[in-house]
Amino acid sequence: MMDEISSHIMDIAMNAITAKAKNIEIAIAADPKKALLTLFFKDDGVGMDKNMVEKVQDPFFSTKTGKKVGLGIPLLKGTAETTGGNFSLSSEPGQGVEIRASFRLNHPDLPPMGKLKDTILVLVAGNPDIDFMFKYTLYDKEFIFDTVAMRAILGDVPLNDPEVVKFFINYLDENL
Ligand SMILES: Nc1ncnc2c1ncn2[C@@H]1O[C@H](COP(=O)(O)OP(=O)(O)OP(=O)(O)O)[C@@H](O)[C@H]1O
Ligand SMILES: [Mg+2]
Repeated sequence: MMDEISSHIMDIAMNAITAKAKNIEIAIAADPKKALLTLFFKDDGVGMDKNMVEKVQDPFFSTKTGKKVGLGIPLLKGTAETTGGNFSLSSEPGQGVEIRASFRLNHPDLPPMGKLKDTILVLVAGNPDIDFMFKYTLYDKEFIFDTVAMRAILGDVPLNDPEVVKFFINYLDENL
């Protein structure tokens, strides 16, 4: 079962990678005043048609061959709604996918964040040709991890270069 927010993030990001996205935006915002945690995802992958948008929110549907149920999206939707939050998914064929999920921070069924740093690291270092924009906001504290900006500094050095990965580990430890 997916009992951590970071596992949901990993799954939704993996969906975008499978859908051939080249740019993936992930925003996590915690607003203790509104008692709301919101996740926003945007990718530029193959997208979905109207029929698909409805079907993917149903746990008994998946396009993966040899597998009857796709659970990533329904699980995220279920968790959001269980905690008193909302879920929405919008897409057009060829236009990528946008997903918003919110959770009530004070709800007893809100899963723990889990290993967010590891999730970011695995996504970035494991997919060095994809650009990621992570944004984490808590009150007025904002942390941004933007691979486009990093590439500009790194030049030809790939995002999965061991020294670069070491730097990312320290950077995430210090800032997140
Ligand atoms: N970002 C996306 N772009 C295009 N299609 C997507 C995207 N996310 C999901 N899909 C489509 O929706 C289906 C359902 O996604 P979901 O995450 O619920 O299940 P899954 O990825 O098939 O299986 P699981 O996540 O349980 O391993 C996917 O198989 C894929 O066809
Ligand atoms: Mg999935």
